[in-house]
Amino acid sequence: MKIQSIKGTRDIFGVNLKLKRFIESIFLDETSKFGFQEIETPLMEDVSLFKRSVGESSDIVQKEMFLINDDKDSITLRPEGTASVLRACIENSLFDKLPLKLSYFGPMFRKEKPQKGRYRQFYQCGVESFGEKTYGADLELFLLISNILKKLNITDYIIEINNIGTNDEREEYKKDLYAFFKQNEDSLSEESKKRLSSNVLRILDSKDQKDIDLCLKVPLIQNYIGLEQQNEFLKFQEMLLKLNIPFKINPFLVRGLDYYSDLVFEIIDTSNNLGSQTALGGGGRYDKLIEDFSNKKIPAIGFAFGVDRLMLCCKAPLTNNPIKISLNSTISDLIPIFLKTKNEFPENFFLDVNLNYNLSFKKMFQRADKISSDYVVIIGENEYQKNQFKIKNMKTGIETVVDISDYSDIGQLLLNFLKTT
Ligand code: HAM
Repeated sequence: MKIQSIKGTRDIFGVNLKLKRFIESIFLDETSKFGFQEIETPLMEDVSLFKRSVGESSDIVQKEMFLINDDKDSITLRPEGTASVLRACIENSLFDKLPLKLSYFGPMFRKEKPQKGRYRQFYQCGVESFGEKTYGADLELFLLISNILKKLNITDYIIEINNIGTNDEREEYKKDLYAFFKQNEDSLSEESKKRLSSNVLRILDSKDQKDIDLCLKVPLIQNYIGLEQQNEFLKFQEMLLKLNIPFKINPFLVRGLDYYSDLVFEIIDTSNNLGSQTALGGGGRYDKLIEDFSNKKIPAIGFAFGVDRLMLCCKAPLTNNPIKISLNSTISDLIPIFLKTKNEFPENFFLDVNLNYNLSFKKMFQRADKISSDYVVIIGENEYQKNQFKIKNMKTGIETVVDISDYSDIGQLLLNFLKTT
């Protein structure tokens, strides 16, 4: 039987791995500039953590968790990072010092139908900011998002925003929304009929055309939100305009996780690079969640990017390819000297050492060609006797002979040679 990777997982190597690491380094640089400290939490958590935060009726809890079959079925691979970070903060008393700003990068697991940009093991990089309830904290995250995307040269995006009110306001809204959909039940898709009693808000972001048509007539959450909150939301939008952050209001954006209140947002790719999975990331405020777990009233806001999706959209060139020089010799004594030279050579060059001194010159060149060397150094018996080395520019084909009295100086001579060519 052929052993294959698990459905929805993939191997990441070569240029793709470089790209993932590049995204990670940009993410960590930018978040640390904004004062975020990195945290790592386990890949496994108690199922009830997500039931109580993401919500019993969410798709994640209903059908997407990878449960680990211990006796009580109580462990799951983590489907997202926010709940884990929150648990870690409570368990390690990190909320004793506020404000607290944490960042994370790592794999998440959801049993979704795999497609372009959607995997069962995928990567998220995200931040959680605890202790600030001003729209300044919201703005800071949006600035961070736009800085990260700029560094990745991702320009085709818009941030969809919505205000989904406080928990009480949303409860009022849900009642009216339920009444509206109940009256029009025949016009709903089959999936949304099921959601009517379990999670009526999610009907708003259904992708089914029947639901989309009906949603054009629904009462809007904006009419249920207090005046003060509406004003704050307006001020927030003015600031976004001033900072040139591309956004639009999507009154149907509710997000699939239950812990949000007030501001929610999704970063939407507009380049068509992602097929039907257009959300590069998403987040929002969750001012009530910590209270549910610890009785402490701590406002919070966060977001997470889908790294796999950033990889599909990133247009930034990876760090410049360094000049590659391949060192070859038929003299075995030179190999340790080559290795020492490699160890001490400046990092902006790539010094390759061919360890096999038994190859013919032809084979040495073929090998260097295969690994795309820019220069090939050859020291055969002849050169060794004359205290010389030969260096060939693989692009121009020009060969140069260089005199060398002590082969341990080869690194310095190579650098001098590269400077003059
Ligand atoms: P989320 O919207 O579920 O939010 O996920 C955030 C991002 O992760 C998505 O926008 C998408 O780019 C990526 N993503 C989600 N599922 C998959 C998948 N199956 N394959 C590939 N990428 C995927 C959260 O997880 C919240 N914890 C974000 C947050 C942080 N809210 C507050 N703080």
